[in-house]
Amino acid sequence: MASSVDLVIFGASGDLARTKILPSLKHLARRNGTALRVIGAGRSEHTQSEFRDLVSESSGSAELAAGAEWVRLRYKDPESFTPVKELLDGTKTAIFYLATPPATFSDILSTVGNSGMVTKGDPSRRIVVEKPLGHDLASARRLNSQLAASFDEEQIFRIDHYLAKDTVQNVLALRFSNSLFEPVWNRNLVETIMITAAEEEGIGLRAGYYDHIGAVRDMIQNHVLQLLALVTMEPPTTFDSDYIRRAKRGALRAVLPLDPTQAVRGQYEGYLDEPGVAPDSRRETYAAARVHIDNWRWDGVPIFIRTGKALKRRATEIVIKLRDAPSLRVGGRRQRGIATLIVIRIQPDEGITLRIGAKRPGVRFEMVPAGMRLDYAHLTRTALPDAYENVLAEVLAGGHSAFPGGEEIELSWEIVDPLIKSWEQDGHPEPYPPGSWGPQAADDLLADNGGGRWIVSGDEPGTA
Ligand code: NDP
Ligand code: BG6
Repeated sequence: MASSVDLVIFGASGDLARTKILPSLKHLARRNGTALRVIGAGRSEHTQSEFRDLVSESSGSAELAAGAEWVRLRYKDPESFTPVKELLDGTKTAIFYLATPPATFSDILSTVGNSGMVTKGDPSRRIVVEKPLGHDLASARRLNSQLAASFDEEQIFRIDHYLAKDTVQNVLALRFSNSLFEPVWNRNLVETIMITAAEEEGIGLRAGYYDHIGAVRDMIQNHVLQLLALVTMEPPTTFDSDYIRRAKRGALRAVLPLDPTQAVRGQYEGYLDEPGVAPDSRRETYAAARVHIDNWRWDGVPIFIRTGKALKRRATEIVIKLRDAPSLRVGGRRQRGIATLIVIRIQPDEGITLRIGAKRPGVRFEMVPAGMRLDYAHLTRTALPDAYENVLAEVLAGGHSAFPGGEEIELSWEIVDPLIKSWEQDGHPEPYPPGSWGPQAADDLLADNGGGRWIVSGDEPGTA
């Protein structure tokens, strides 16, 4: 018997489904009296009871587990989708979630699109696609056309779960709900911008996905460029999703394609021994690049981005470094210059720090770095929801505020494509020790391009 809302998850026994999607469904299993049913689908062999155990273990919801169904199918074989169609017969809302590697998206989209399970323009039939959408600009364009052939834009949810993080959404609040920041947010007062998305863990058991993808496609093309767009875009007309997407498109259009001569790739030592990694893999697990933004607001400001696996610790941060104030002399002695930093701590330890210079308490007039901190957790009594819970709540409600539009995704591929092509053609990533901040060359990249040195809170006095 069909339920009110059916969520068909392709690749439901995979890493994403087990670690993010199913756990997030626990609080969404019943909304406004509407029951949710999970239909897992994939090539793997599972009995219904095995899949129910998996749902129970991952989600912690007995209710969700009790109603869950498993359908074994082959993504290229439309006939094998028939049991899904039968399960969906009479359902009010059906959501198809592609939680599989990007290479499978086209086959699944064409089968779902031609199956009679969806009707273009019917908002009760929704499609959710994971990032990265495609593996380059051309494939992203093909997938966007394929999506558009079967679905209207309001039926399509392209996931970038960073957009559903509260701290990422707070970038908009910080910039556009406070009159303090916007006047300094430009080339006149900003000396440099740095975006770090560092992870402590290696690739774990995800070689099947990661060794074909690498850090640029996995993180830069989507999460990091979305952060960059939010930080550098012009004020949107309203906070509604259409206007925010429009402002982000404007920002991404002004970003020049990444230049391989101003970029660094790394591979953590031990990567080649990870299960499933090709013994001669040249895949990058670290990437850093200088970004040029060719517009009135940011012309000439050195902007740097970096991401990597197996780094010193997990830290996603945006650092806006303001130009130094003139440092005055006291008794003939020049004071120590202390750069003003606006640090947006996306995760962990979510919040914002304003690092300023202050007078050291005592008789002498001496400057020390000091921090003014907003700890995001103090704004709420409850734990911050996981981004996937926000994403899924939005999909179930049919809202679009936490999703990038198709054009933004294509613009992002335009930015990274030349770098990926150049790196795939030749050269090797530089090895870096796990637990470090990546290759030395990434420090040189900053130093040689007017960026000083990488800043991340905790490693910079006064920002912790
Ligand atoms: P997995 O490698 O775990 O794959 C998920 C499922 O897809 C597998 O269980 C398998 O199911 C099916 N699958 C795997 N490889 C293939 C293949 N070559 N051909 C056909 N089917 C395959 O990947 P993840 O779950 O880690 O990622 C899935 C998607 O989610 C990716 O697009 C990724 O970018 C995205 N993502 C993942 C995150 C994560 O933390 N894991 C976070 C954010 C996004 P079966 O064998 O049953 O068909
Ligand atoms: C995913 C990437 O999109 O984001 C993973 O595929 C990465 O490789 C993950 O680990 C990071 O997400 P978060 O929310 O843990 O920062």
